[in-house]
Amino acid sequence: MIDFVFQNPTKILFGKNALSSLHDEAARWGERVLLVYGGGSIKRTGVYDQVMAQLAGLQVWELGGVQPNPRLSLVREGIALCREQGIQLVLAVGGGSAIDTAKGIANGVCYDGDVWDLFDGKGKNTEVLPLGTVVTIPAAGSEMSDSCVITREEDLCKRGRNTPLNFPKFSILNPEFTYTLPPFQTACGVVDIMAHMMERYFTRVTHVELIDRMTEGALKTVVNNAPIVMQDPENYDARAEIMWAGCLSHNTLLQTGRVGDWASHKLEHELSALYDIAHGAGLAIVFPAWMKYALAHGGEAKLAQFGRRVFDVPDSGDDAADAAEGIRRLEAFYRSLGLTTTLTENGIGDTDFGRMAERAAAMAGGVLGQFVPLKAADCEAIYRLAL
Ligand code: NZQ
Ligand code: ZN
Repeated sequence: MIDFVFQNPTKILFGKNALSSLHDEAARWGERVLLVYGGGSIKRTGVYDQVMAQLAGLQVWELGGVQPNPRLSLVREGIALCREQGIQLVLAVGGGSAIDTAKGIANGVCYDGDVWDLFDGKGKNTEVLPLGTVVTIPAAGSEMSDSCVITREEDLCKRGRNTPLNFPKFSILNPEFTYTLPPFQTACGVVDIMAHMMERYFTRVTHVELIDRMTEGALKTVVNNAPIVMQDPENYDARAEIMWAGCLSHNTLLQTGRVGDWASHKLEHELSALYDIAHGAGLAIVFPAWMKYALAHGGEAKLAQFGRRVFDVPDSGDDAADAAEGIRRLEAFYRSLGLTTTLTENGIGDTDFGRMAERAAAMAGGVLGQFVPLKAADCEAIYRLAL
């Protein structure tokens, strides 16, 4: 286990009555609130009305229209609005896209330059506007993460920025708000949650049994409860298990004492940047391909442990065989959720592989990931495995 600092300051309010705390949680940061949300699901589901009722007595400005794979232009619009109106709290209602837009705004308001500087490392801010969230989809884990992922439209560049400034002040999670998710979005969320665990699980750091076993338990919990919510979308208990798993998957607890890999995420971000596919759908394609590549490049022992402990592959004594079976079971699980696991099924060919591979590797300083260090040529090979 390696040295670490663990601090996550986000206050979580979880459960059927969690939203009743919103007024007090918001009011403690000021009276002027910017409400950030997506393409309208919160209006159709009634969450918007419940949120507005809670915000009675506060002054609320709205910024709707956040698209999945959120765009930089709306972040810029939000920054201008906050400056004009003296906003004191940014409140995101929705999923990772609304929350990351709100995070981009909250950072950008406190930076005296172009907000994209913060994403490409040219600039730094030391302060941020307070941010709160009401979560409607368990997936990105942004509600308790230090990360913010935005796409710049001009060159379809999708970048994440990690900083403790990104931790929300509070996040409200009512599993009932997820009942209305279309099956595809539920499935994408499940894949993303598992990916956040797996990126950290596949590490070369040894003697990390506690977090390994916690991660295996969390993965099994998601695997057990996903089929239940696909069959029975209003099953509170199963929705609650997945929602809490989503939060814990990405709040950095499962990264303590180890180095995460994160290659699959970077490879996927290129995919969703260029082809605008849902992040979770992209991960269902990229992660198994990355695992196959890792298996062929010295990763068989940990991959076998994953297969045996998460997908109950019987121990045959042959790590490579058990690892391959674990990958096969993972793909079958994704497919059982109605997702595809190849690029071809999504109409994506090899046209852009070179460019995507170069960009993914370059963003990591030339070598991506640590479980299996990948140069651009390795990244391209993984895209080919995903065909
Ligand atoms: O836009 P609306 O109309 O609200 O509809 C959304 C959207 O179409 C819909 N939806 C959400 N809650 C709903 C609902 N529909 C019905 N009922 C509900 N209760 O779901 C769709 C997807 O929403 P989105 O916010 O895009 O999903 P997600 O939470 O998966 O976020 C994806 C984004 O987060 C980034 C991804 O790359 C992607 O851009 N990530 C952010 C991370 C972070 N900040 O920590 C980490 C992740 O690895 C990820 O990269
Ligand atoms: Zn993710």
